[in-house]
Amino acid sequence: MAQFNTQLEGRKPILLTPGPTEVDPVVLREMSHFAESHFSQPFCDTFGEVLTMLRKLFQCYDPRAQPFVLGGSGSLGWDFTATNFIEPGESVLYLSPGFFDDAFEMCLSTYGARTTKLTVDFGSAPDLSIVEEELKVHQYKALVVTHVDTSTSVLTQLKPLSDLLARSSPETLFIVDGVASVGCEDLQFDSWKVDVAVTGSQKALSCPPGVGIIMVSARALHVAETRKTPLTAWYASLPRWLPIMRKYEKKEASYFATPPTQVVRALHASLADILSRPLSDRFAQHKRKSAEVRAAIEGLGLNLVALEPGTQANGVTAFWLPEGLTSELLRAKALERGIIFAGGMHSQFGSKYVRFGHMGFSVVNEFGAHIDTGIKVLRDTIIEFYQNRSRKEMRLADCEFCITNDLGENALVLAQA
Ligand SMILES: Cc1ncc(COP(=O)(O)O)c(C=O)c1O
Repeated sequence: MAQFNTQLEGRKPILLTPGPTEVDPVVLREMSHFAESHFSQPFCDTFGEVLTMLRKLFQCYDPRAQPFVLGGSGSLGWDFTATNFIEPGESVLYLSPGFFDDAFEMCLSTYGARTTKLTVDFGSAPDLSIVEEELKVHQYKALVVTHVDTSTSVLTQLKPLSDLLARSSPETLFIVDGVASVGCEDLQFDSWKVDVAVTGSQKALSCPPGVGIIMVSARALHVAETRKTPLTAWYASLPRWLPIMRKYEKKEASYFATPPTQVVRALHASLADILSRPLSDRFAQHKRKSAEVRAAIEGLGLNLVALEPGTQANGVTAFWLPEGLTSELLRAKALERGIIFAGGMHSQFGSKYVRFGHMGFSVVNEFGAHIDTGIKVLRDTIIEFYQNRSRKEMRLADCEFCITNDLGENALVLAQA
């Protein structure tokens, strides 16, 4: 892939992928914090505050619930979930709008869960009536859903699912992969009776990668603590981490495995900034920006992968490319202009679509104009593609696009035809 010449441009490319995301310089500075002991009082204070702030971020007010912050990534939350809350042979209902759901399902199966997957068309969200039917017929230990599937930019609404569970199967644990949603989509852990929500530091929290974050309800803690079969994991063991998290939250030192001290400090800076304003403002900001991105993409004559308005994520937008333009080519051209987009994630048509990340610092830091620059670069790249097409390659739809967008020669071709 072409390289963005930082020396020539005197600046770095802007990272507009759905994670990792751009990091506020204030947060980034914490990554060069001097080495400190994880037993030192300043570190215990920092870690304790991180855990307390996470309760606010997840809108979780039940003091019996517990956040966990473990060195690792979002995927560690999958292992943590699979090994602690589900016993071998127990049934899990899996809602699958994309790539990440399938990977989470494989992780659950690895630990012995019996999974049933409800699949949907690429770009669609799960149909709740089918979920309800399934819950009426079979008993499930847990329902697992990915809040935002990063591979398709499909948002699955949690509140209706929560209502459905309360109606049809209240004993079923409600497990949410919030890796691409926590920090940019509303996730009301308590009100929506979520039992387990997992995320990572590097997406909408705009912190460097390095920790997996898991919020666990009092009910799920009880399930983990009273399981009958022995745990088959060491590092991801909830009983081993629970006393450590409780102690750190009281700002007391404790040890099971070494926490990534600089990442914890960076997360502290990021959470402090996020919580310095109402969360509702942050979510509204993401909604506004995502609407702008979608309008710009559609204005270029391109189709969105997630078509239904209620299922379009606010932190990432996936869109189809015109015939003849691959994701690899578009991203190479965008990189030359200083923007990094993400490619598609699908075995068959991954190179036919691109993902535009608009979450975290790039959205809330209006002065940076990251998203506006991303939109401009996308537009310039698409226009360049059309301008370079030979006349016989132009399809009617392409020509119409050129006319609407006043693209000189190719527009003239059609006008003269
Ligand atoms: C929805 C979702 N779940 C899980 C993961 C895995 O997270 P990680 O790459 O931090 O392990 C990702 C990564 O992009 C994701 O988007």
